[in-house]
Amino acid sequence: MNRRTVLVASLLAGAAALPTTLRAEDAVKIGLILPMTGPFASTGRQVEAAARLFMAQNGDTVAGRKIELILKDDGGVADQTKRIAQELIVNDKVSVLAGFGLTPLAFAAAPLATQAKVPMVVVAAATSVITERSPYIARTSFTLPQATVPLAEWAAKNGIESVVTVVSDYGPGVDAETAFTTRFTAAGGKVLETIRVPVANPDFAPFLQRVRDLKPSAVFVFVPSGIGSAFMKQFKERGLAEAGIKLIGTGDVTDDDILDAMGDVALGTITTHHYSAAHDSPENKAFVEAFEAANKGMRPNFMGVGGYDGMRLIYEALKATGGDPDGDKLIEAMKQAKWTSPRGPVAIDPRTRDIVQNIYFREVERVDGQLYNVEFDAVEAVKDPVKEAH
Ligand code: DHB
Repeated sequence: MNRRTVLVASLLAGAAALPTTLRAEDAVKIGLILPMTGPFASTGRQVEAAARLFMAQNGDTVAGRKIELILKDDGGVADQTKRIAQELIVNDKVSVLAGFGLTPLAFAAAPLATQAKVPMVVVAAATSVITERSPYIARTSFTLPQATVPLAEWAAKNGIESVVTVVSDYGPGVDAETAFTTRFTAAGGKVLETIRVPVANPDFAPFLQRVRDLKPSAVFVFVPSGIGSAFMKQFKERGLAEAGIKLIGTGDVTDDDILDAMGDVALGTITTHHYSAAHDSPENKAFVEAFEAANKGMRPNFMGVGGYDGMRLIYEALKATGGDPDGDKLIEAMKQAKWTSPRGPVAIDPRTRDIVQNIYFREVERVDGQLYNVEFDAVEAVKDPVKEAH
């Protein structure tokens, strides 16, 4: 090549790079992809409300850069998530993707985050393996094994001799079933049967009849956020409590968004999870009050807190880079993040990019006339146990 060809080539390369280079006066865009419609719309509603609350409380400027939130509805359909993520990256030139209400939706976007080097903050989906699908993923929700292992060990020590597991038949359900059976059995308990039910609109009646016939000490359940009411209704109608069968599970089944409407059947349910609206701390009191005030009394659930902390993580990372939205710099900054969440102290594990957090033991009780998950014990600073093993 002669000098002129080299010069032209470098000019062209520079010109091609221009549209994707952010100038200091440009807003940093965050593409928030959520199921705002369809069977998992409650997840979208919770996360959107929490993200907007965070911005209202903390302003829309970080390190001198204006923040612009672009919300898109994927309806809970993975092909839509993928198409929307692509458009947000290519057309809107977002610096960060966030949201991801269900595991298959996070899987669909992960390769795009890698390809475009755009950080992807998973605020809801909770299958362990998600963060391994891209080095640009960080997570502010939880993992099912993280929430399940403490419960399996507690059950074995608290008079529960035999269990039947009932889980939604996809990633997080399989994670919960595996974690529960492995740890409960290792601690001396017996798992009589493992039952998997369809993810959307499941009819629990035949499965719960089967549980009743097997007469375990307890049924362990995982269903995704929003589905718990349907499960509780069938648990009541099949008379499992009368048959002396206890209900235990991860806190997804006693989701704060719908718990109070479940009625007395939910009383006494023992769950483990990372967030309860009844968590007793000044940070949580302030969060719950502000969230309810901004959303016509809607109670925040664990999806809401995942969205709130997702925004916090993005703000902290931008502060750390001095407002530089470079994807590699942002994800590096996210790996160092540590803060006090409404759920308690949290940190991002730099090795796995998963959240390290307390897992609380809770029992459903009536407090001032309303049903809450009342915390009675905790295991501190829990990491995802699946990734601890390798
Ligand atoms: C997932 C979705 C949920 O609503 C939930 O409570 C836990 C996990 C998921 O799809 O990963």
